[in-house]
Amino acid sequence: MEPLDLLVRNTSEVLTVEGSHREPAEQALTPRPRACVGVRGGRVAWVGQEPDLPPGAVTPSTEILDAEGRMVGPGFVDPHTHLVFAGERSREFDLRNQGATYLEIAQAGGGIVSTVRATRAASEEELVRLALPRLQRLLEYGVTTAEVKSGYGLDVENELKMLRVVRRLASLSPVELVPTLLCAHAVPEEFKGRREAYVELCVQEILPAVAREGLARFCDIFVEQSAFTPDDARRLLTAAKALGLRPRLHGDQLTSGGGAELAAELGAATVDHLENVSEAGIRALAAADVTAVLVPTSTLFVRMRPYAPGRKLREAGVNIALGTNINPGSAMSENLPLAMGLGCLENGLSAAEVYWAATRGAALALGLPSHGRLAVGDVADLVIFSCTNYRHLPYHLGVNHARAVLKYGRLL
Ligand code: NIG
Repeated sequence: MEPLDLLVRNTSEVLTVEGSHREPAEQALTPRPRACVGVRGGRVAWVGQEPDLPPGAVTPSTEILDAEGRMVGPGFVDPHTHLVFAGERSREFDLRNQGATYLEIAQAGGGIVSTVRATRAASEEELVRLALPRLQRLLEYGVTTAEVKSGYGLDVENELKMLRVVRRLASLSPVELVPTLLCAHAVPEEFKGRREAYVELCVQEILPAVAREGLARFCDIFVEQSAFTPDDARRLLTAAKALGLRPRLHGDQLTSGGGAELAAELGAATVDHLENVSEAGIRALAAADVTAVLVPTSTLFVRMRPYAPGRKLREAGVNIALGTNINPGSAMSENLPLAMGLGCLENGLSAAEVYWAATRGAALALGLPSHGRLAVGDVADLVIFSCTNYRHLPYHLGVNHARAVLKYGRLL
């Protein structure tokens, strides 16, 4: 065997996450007790027991990383973030804790449009400066790949500005970023009462400009009584598909609005939130193979009930991904392990299911077949945790157990 660049040895277990969401998650994680991981050229080159290392694999130039008897698994993939924004909304948090609702605050001029005002006023440099520490915190929690949405610009110039910020962040941080255009996040103030005209602006101007610059891989829309209608989603996401952007949508979050059924109809990659998904919606997601992205931190943060029915989605055969949804309004937290804990406590998932959802389930949702898994040939994005088994991660609620993070085999 050609010499390895790096060997991670002395683990408690290595989770390679090689299975599928259609088999029991404990089996899909493929835990290998005391296994080693060999890396060459930024990719996983070998996984096995140390005595079985092929001749020539370890040479004096191979770096050895001692996991000191701890667990190793693929880096987390966060499939849903609104990482780029200016300003903050701690006052809204305080108001909600005294009884105001997310919708009441939005209707009174707070909410998404207030972050739009602050983000429009900020320069590209300022937005990069503000987002970098958030990205660094995600990395510290073990996130090696993250999706990032626009959605606080809501006009041609500012949506482009946000996505250019994502591109600059990707060049400044080791975390791999997947950009999503979310121009249909809210109806901007200057289009008040003219929602359909704003959707036309998205279709005729924002989307083509973003596609021309190759700034986004996905196009997302917030389908909700207070935001956009299913017909708006059909119009925007059909146009997005024609320009090569894969559809996603925020659906069934605050009210039950057929978001899951719509995602299935439009062949969306994901539908995100799903707190109020219907039984028919769950069946539609399974049949159309749409990933359900659960973001329980925001259900907690906006004090809404119910949580998304993770157990039912899983039992129906739906692939589940789990994200932080870091944003200034509904989830001011980069803590993915906390989302995993809530995924168990409130979405009814098992520890193995939330680990799947935060790694392989999320990678598949983002169309990244070599991520979120440690099979030979996959990207060598991995985390050495300070615990010895994966059940400890959601159980030690919200605590960061990422001890060492490697991106493409490089220790960060
Ligand atoms: O995913 N639901 C819509 N968008 C965000 C909230 C954004 C905000 O409040 O600023 C979400 O929860």
